[in-house]
Amino acid sequence: KIIQLKDYRPSDFLIDRVELDVRLDPHATRVKATLTIRPNPEGRADAPLVLDGDELNLRSVSLDGRALPSGEYETGPQFLSISQPPRQAFTLEIETELDPTANTKLMGLYRSSGNYCTQCEADGFRRITYFLDRPDILSVYTTRIEADRDEAPVLLGNGNPVESGAIEGTNRHFAIWHDPHPKPSYLFALVGGRLGHVGKSFTTMSGRAVRLKVYVEPGKEDRAHYALDALERSMRWDERVFGREYDLDEFNIVAVSDFNMGAMENKGLNIFNDKYVLASPETATDADYANIEAIIAHEYFHNWSGNRVTCRDWFQLCLKEGLTVFRDQEFSSDERSRPVHRIAEVKTLRARQFAEDASPLAHPVRPQQYREINNFYTATVYEKGAEIVRMLKTIIGEGDFRRGMDLYFDRCDGTAATVENFLDAFATVTGRDLSHFARWYSQAGTPRVTIRSTYDEAAQTYRLDFAQATAPTPGQPSKEPMAIPVAIGLVAQDGSSLTATSERVSPQGVFMLDRAQDSLSFSGVTSRPVPSVFRDFSAPVRTSLDLTNDDLLVLLRHDTDAFNRWQAAQTVAMRLLIGLAERTSVPDGDFDRLAAALRTFLESDARRDPAFAALVLTLPNEADVAQEIGANVNPDAIHRARRELRRMIGTVCAEPLLQLYEELADQGPYSPDAASAGRRSLRNVSLDLLAAADARQGERRAQAQFETASNMTDRLASFGVLMTLPGEAREAAIAAFGRRYADEPLVLDKWFTLQASIQEDGTLDRVRRLMEHPAFSISNPNRVRSLVGSFAMLNPTQFNRADGQGYEFVADMVLRVDPLNPQLAARLLTAFGSWRIMEPERLERARSALRRIAQNASLSRDVGDIVQRSLEET
Ligand code: ARG
Ligand code: ZN
Repeated sequence: KIIQLKDYRPSDFLIDRVELDVRLDPHATRVKATLTIRPNPEGRADAPLVLDGDELNLRSVSLDGRALPSGEYETGPQFLSISQPPRQAFTLEIETELDPTANTKLMGLYRSSGNYCTQCEADGFRRITYFLDRPDILSVYTTRIEADRDEAPVLLGNGNPVESGAIEGTNRHFAIWHDPHPKPSYLFALVGGRLGHVGKSFTTMSGRAVRLKVYVEPGKEDRAHYALDALERSMRWDERVFGREYDLDEFNIVAVSDFNMGAMENKGLNIFNDKYVLASPETATDADYANIEAIIAHEYFHNWSGNRVTCRDWFQLCLKEGLTVFRDQEFSSDERSRPVHRIAEVKTLRARQFAEDASPLAHPVRPQQYREINNFYTATVYEKGAEIVRMLKTIIGEGDFRRGMDLYFDRCDGTAATVENFLDAFATVTGRDLSHFARWYSQAGTPRVTIRSTYDEAAQTYRLDFAQATAPTPGQPSKEPMAIPVAIGLVAQDGSSLTATSERVSPQGVFMLDRAQDSLSFSGVTSRPVPSVFRDFSAPVRTSLDLTNDDLLVLLRHDTDAFNRWQAAQTVAMRLLIGLAERTSVPDGDFDRLAAALRTFLESDARRDPAFAALVLTLPNEADVAQEIGANVNPDAIHRARRELRRMIGTVCAEPLLQLYEELADQGPYSPDAASAGRRSLRNVSLDLLAAADARQGERRAQAQFETASNMTDRLASFGVLMTLPGEAREAAIAAFGRRYADEPLVLDKWFTLQASIQEDGTLDRVRRLMEHPAFSISNPNRVRSLVGSFAMLNPTQFNRADGQGYEFVADMVLRVDPLNPQLAARLLTAFGSWRIMEPERLERARSALRRIAQNASLSRDVGDIVQRSLEET
């Protein structure tokens, strides 16, 4: 069944209040729901009441206190319907029973390491009780939770704690929570278990005292301090930057070890995948710390962008996700280094979203239809959704952006809103017509902008001719032009400043490209400049520019825009990698010039901003190159090309790299701050390039670092370098790492990931062996993703083995995981997203693996949907 955006209609009934009484039990949890229901004035007058359910066991149902006889309702595991409900307000009492221990889908109420927890977004609440499980039904919830004291000493719910106590004559106890803010069912949560916590109190800008707590497995409290600190900083930041204040007496975060996604913004009770909470210098890398900070902020920011203002229907998912990603990106940029963070955002966007846009799974930021909503928690909805908000800010400016956000929160507070409501706020504030801009939400695909430049020396004018086009995507064969903000500047060849002007460039340096073709002229240009376009990556587009490598190296050296300095080096490297991979002729001098430019950069600039330097020194990865080539891809050739270019750069830059490596050696106690992390990343990039140039010395250096490292960042980086160097040292390091962290599942995940990423023929067997490792578990999403997911997503030569065995293995795993956890299986399957760009032999092998999955009769809707779309001809 396909659900369409155009078919939306308001619910026929509303549920104003929900009282839940949940008696936790490992196999027979009883849920009594008391629902206060009334007809919706905007609904149909004579409609039946049809509640959603999923794998539920109904025990009893009564209406206004009267047990309903079986003739007055119909029910099955998926629904409960009453054909003649009262036409005024009434109370429905439903009792259901469920088995949380058997719930391997990790949706609804389930157990993780013995603790009870829930995940309701998008449609898991219907696995707890029969309900109108849709986001436009907003209700006030009161939850009573009861459990055995030994099994679940801690009982948490949404909102504020009201009451708790013992149940006389038993070993059971209870807690009652009340959430005064009306919310959709997907934000419901409860937790019961044995948990330790760290906490502190926080005073909001208006003086409200809030207790903050982070709950973790007992004994791991020490590893929760960073998350707690990130929460406090997020709360302060949202007050300062968006004027948003927290609205309950408590804010609780719980870390669980079995979780399908990163985390969940349940009102007042965020539930997290423990890998995004737990951190210590010995077990977490700098990247882990940065992710924890960003995800803690993301879920907290949802309190306004998601919870106070929620979504009318799931087509509006980007309304909360795109906006909240934008907000967490801004937070991280303020807390860390803005240009460095921007480059990281763009790398993710290109790797995940551009790839998705180019794949059979391409869809608009606001999809027009879906079969399974859980398959739309995608890079397009999240990351491209955030880019749209960023473009809006670029176009209207900071002041109007903030005024528009205030108006949006003001107007829509307490409602289930749409993308139109969001854009209307900005249209009101600016008086602009945003209807063309709105196309970013409805048209899928990454626009390609082609730019040709002409310099007229006599007239001292410089002209740029722009053209934009977007390739067809599923369901959208022909495309309209987009409204593209082009942040632009001209750079003189010698770096001196240019005073060229054009009236079509705003004072903030933005040119709006909103037609298929347009041109832009500058006057008063005294020498041929190099254009710096899409500064700070002002729009999510691909660019073709008629610049020479020498022009680009001018930008690397002189551009005032840090993003474009990085971009320039990437573009040159990309050209050289493609030349090497496709054996097309690249003038030898070009390799030397890139290496020499990087050497100069290392000597003169690297120390000023080590984190930025590390990014400049990191070549586009193999998947980026494959995407850029776009058809008839041979992953082995790309792998060889990248190794070769790293070798050349490592050789030419050996001296400054070695100097940096020694100079940046670990100083003092570990701190996860951005500056320290930047120094570590530059040092570790140096280690890698040096090893690419000289394997024997590199191995010794990496081995020494591996043995003496005082933190996980340095240990893992050297371990990663060793993985690229076959031999005894590598196998010894693998064994040592495995022993050292035998009791640390999150660290073993890194160990699984790096082994699954080894680009050698033996890796598939290694992965198969590791599946027998005692720490591996097919039912834990983090384990499956780190071993099988990494093989499929991070190992292009082995997943895409010419003999097709990589594809067959991943297909087997998808089929094995699907009956247990469809969401996890569907995610794994998205690894096949780029199968159509492969060379014909691999392409056929991928197709046959996909067909084998598709032929399976008992596929989940999640996997069925992905496999069907993956195979469809566009
Ligand atoms: N709203 C969560 C977040 O982005 C993601 C939850 C998605 N869960 C799911 N089962 N689809 O913060
Ligand atoms: Zn989110």
